[in-house]
Parts: sequence; structure tokens; C-alpha cells
Amino acid sequence: GISWKLPEHPKLPKGKTVAVVVLDGWGEAKPDQYNCIHVADTPTMDSLKQGAPEKWRLVRAHGKAVGLPTEDDMGNSEVGHNALGAGRIFAQGAKLVDLALASGKIYEGEGFKYIKECFKNGTLHLIGLLSDGGVHSRLDQLQLLLKGASERGAKRIRVHILTDGRDVLDGSSIGFLEILENDIAKLREKGVDVQIASGGGRMYVTMDRYENDWDVVKRGWDAQVLGEAPYKFRNAIEAVKKLREELKVNDQYLPPFVIVDENEKPVGPIVDGDAVVTINFRADRMVMIAKALEYEDFDKFDRVRFPKIRYAGMLQYDGELKLPSHYLVSPPEIERTSGEYLVHNGVRTFACSETVKFGHVTFFWNGNRSGYFNPELEEYVEIPSDSGITFNVQPKMKALEIAEKTRDAILGGKFDQVRVNLPNGDMVGHTGDIEATVVACKVADEAVKIILDAIEQVGGIYVVTADHGNAEDMVKRNKSGQPLLDKNGKLQILTSHTLEPVPIAIGGPGLAPGVRFRKDLPNGGLANVAATVMNLHGFEAPSDYEPTLIEVVDN
Ligand code: 3PG
Ligand code: CO
Repeated sequence: GISWKLPEHPKLPKGKTVAVVVLDGWGEAKPDQYNCIHVADTPTMDSLKQGAPEKWRLVRAHGKAVGLPTEDDMGNSEVGHNALGAGRIFAQGAKLVDLALASGKIYEGEGFKYIKECFKNGTLHLIGLLSDGGVHSRLDQLQLLLKGASERGAKRIRVHILTDGRDVLDGSSIGFLEILENDIAKLREKGVDVQIASGGGRMYVTMDRYENDWDVVKRGWDAQVLGEAPYKFRNAIEAVKKLREELKVNDQYLPPFVIVDENEKPVGPIVDGDAVVTINFRADRMVMIAKALEYEDFDKFDRVRFPKIRYAGMLQYDGELKLPSHYLVSPPEIERTSGEYLVHNGVRTFACSETVKFGHVTFFWNGNRSGYFNPELEEYVEIPSDSGITFNVQPKMKALEIAEKTRDAILGGKFDQVRVNLPNGDMVGHTGDIEATVVACKVADEAVKIILDAIEQVGGIYVVTADHGNAEDMVKRNKSGQPLLDKNGKLQILTSHTLEPVPIAIGGPGLAPGVRFRKDLPNGGLANVAATVMNLHGFEAPSDYEPTLIEVVDN
């Protein structure tokens, strides 16, 4: 069995209240007018940076440091919080799917064999995010799977696309569709009946998370399963072009549409005997649709028709719920997370965020596992997010409410660790609205202050960090850092995350004298934070964890 008991730290005491604050989408970049963190009034974060040089540093939050395939992969919340919570670097979904496709193992696994049973008489449906963002899915993986499935007997395939514009530039969906349509045309020449069957923008159709708004999933269900949508087109490229032009909506928020034949009949509803694969590897925005596709008992919306299908996820999305029960690639086995260790060692834990980021400090933090390790020692508080809005209209979001709940948890004395995610920099940054993102950064900074003040009052310790960059850079740039213009001379707004490192600061009256960041880990990343936090709770980290960022010098 696993030995959960952590050794005592030789120098650092137990029993301090430790606040772990994760600013979502808060990287460190050159100060200019498109760096919203720089432009915003952020006195608290500034003081951490300027205060004690040995208590503030940068850590890596992208690429291989967080288990992504290459150094060109920007960070994201899933891999960021996984690394923060698990203290080790796991090859993540993107990488695991790459390997399974490259070796062909994806076609030998249980999941593919399971769906293959339907190829003879049924249709194979592929549902997922269409972009090369690499956060939730990747176009090249979809291309390979399409080809691979058709070579292995899938004769009729329907693709249900979700347009991105959030992990990639707005408007880039057309280009991805052209690539996909080109592949489809080639497959059709070979006699495979392939078509795009439906579509919609990822933030409006299917890809909700943490049960923020089931209507999003319902819109997808209606289009993908029932073949019903407010807009009907003969062709997906035309659909995206027209909807963008006529409704003035961006890729993220396109309404649902279905592709119909010359008789106005939808070309690909999901029916009894079909196979379905959700092609996203990332979990959070697939859990809800997975429940709708898999659960016999389901009351979140009226499915109207619940087809008897064989469904597999690209990965298994929730290890605790075992959801979905069939999948093409095994997910990273993120076990023995710091949260689980600390709870076993009696650390009473409070975690809080608002709905849209709630699972980040719980589910992702705990290795893609839902629920408590020990409900007697843990309390997870979700502040309901505003739903049905884009967060640039409400850039304050629930940051102050999160901070106040956390302050109360600190002052109440019932917890040893309080852990929060402050979503503003990320969620507002993704809208591409620079002015609103500046407001978002200011509010996040105010929220940090509320938490640090409470830590001050109880003699505790704080660790303030971030999961990846976003708000610190809002424009696409050329290699020398100059903002890029599009063909109409307009600034190309960067809605996505970045490759930037993120800050980490430690402090508070409870921090033992002599604690400082080590100098021998210049390439430290998010995975080094878990051991650091364990030390601040008075424990040594397990030996296979990435090393702690701190040392204690005698003075
Ligand atoms: C999203 O799902 O909103 C974006 O693709 C990634 O954002 P996150 O990694 O910050 O959640
Ligand atoms: Co984000």
C-alpha cells in the first residue's frame, strides 16, 4: 500500500495557516500597452514583486514543464493546476493521444474495438473542438483519427464541429474548416461517406464546464443528436462565414447549425446503432456532454431521444466517476496528489472559486478526480458564476466574493490550507476586450489583498502564483515582439493563453525567518510548487515530487 505519512520538515513548523492563491491567466511579460496587468492598477501584486527579491520569482507554466508535447504549447488551466496539485510532471492528454496515434495503439485498445462494432451498420460521429490550439483538442489528431477509422472499416462518418477563437485567433475557424473539408473530399474519393453534420461556437454550444449552464450542452445535443438547430446550411464553411457576417458573432459564440441535404434533411443526426467519439482530450468541457451521451438516468435537460449508441471519449474524463466508461486513450495517471497527502496528514483544507473555475482548484488540482478525499477535513465552496454573459461585461466576476469567503475561512480558524482560483485575468482575457481585462486585473489584485490581509491577521503564510499567462499579452506579435496587424490593418487581438512564465511569491508573518527561494532551480515550473507548499505546512514532500523551490538558511 501507499505510505501516506509525510516526514516532518527538519526546520519548518506545522500548524500555520497557508493561503495558496492562483491567479488564473496571470503571466509575466514586457510592460507595454497590451499588457493589461502592467496597465492595470495592481498595488498588491506590485508590492510582492518589489518587496523581497528572495521571495518572488518566475516559474515555467507552458510546454514540457507542464507535460505538453512541445515548447510551442502554451500553458492552460488543466495542465497548470494538475502540475500545481500533483507536484510532478505527467505526460498530458495532448501528448498521450499523439503517441497512441503515432504507434497505432489507439486502434488496438478496448475503446476503439468497442466503437468499431458499429462501423458495419452504423455511422461514426466525431464531436469536438476544431482548432490547433492544443488545449482541448488538435486538428491534426482529428485528421489522423478520421483517416485511421476509415481505413479500419468506418464507411459513414459525420463530424460535429465546435469552432474555437479562444485558444486560437478569432476568425481562424474558416481555415481549419478548409483543411478538414479538404481531407473529407479525399476520403470521399476513396468511397467513404464523410460529411460535416453540425456546428456551433464552443462557448455557446456543447463545451460548458462545471455545470455552469446546461443550455449550452442542450443546444449541442439538439444539433448533434436530434439534427435540430435554428440555422441550416448545405455546407459548414458557408455556415461559419454567413453567421459571422450576418450576426456579427465571433467563433467562440457561433449559434448552433446543422448541415442539411437538398431536401432540407439533416445529414447526420445520431441514431440507434451509431458510434460516437468526443475527440477532445481535455476533461473539463467534455464531462457534461459525456454524461448526456452515457447516462441512462439524466435530468439536466430533456434529451427527447436517447439513442442506443456506443460512445467513447478520446480519454476518460473523470477518474472518480469513471466517465465515460469507454475511451480511446488512457488518461495520465495522476495519483498521490499533494491534496491527498496533506489530508492524510491531517491538513484541513478549504478550496474556493466561482463556478467557471471551481473544478480547477478541486478537480484538476486533485488529478482530474471529483469529490473529497475526506469530507471531514475538506470543504470546497463554489460561488455561482453569472451565466449567459461574456465576462467582459462583468469583469469583476466573483473575485471579491471568493476573497471574502476565503477571508472568513482563514479567520474562522478551521482550516490549515485555503486554496483559491481568481479567474478574472483569464476569463476576461479570453474575450479579447483589453479595457475590460484591465479592470479584471485590478479586481483580481484587490481580491489578493483581502486574502493577504486575513493571513496577516492570523499569522499565516501565503503563496501567490498563477496557472499560465493570458492577460499580460493581448496581441499577436511577430518574432521581434511587434504587434501584428491583419489584412485590414486591424490589430490582431490575442484571446488565447501565452507562453509566458508566471510569478510566485511567498510571505506572511508565519513564514519562518530564513525561508527564501533557492537559486539552483532557475528552470523551476509549476510542478515545483506542491513540494514548496508541503514544506510550508511543515512536511517534507515525497521523494518523487519535483523539488521544492525554497530553502531555509540559518540567520
Ligand atoms: C477554456 O476552456 O476556457 C480555454 O480553452 C482554456 O482556458 P483555461 O485553461 O484557462 O481554462
Ligand atoms: Co483560459
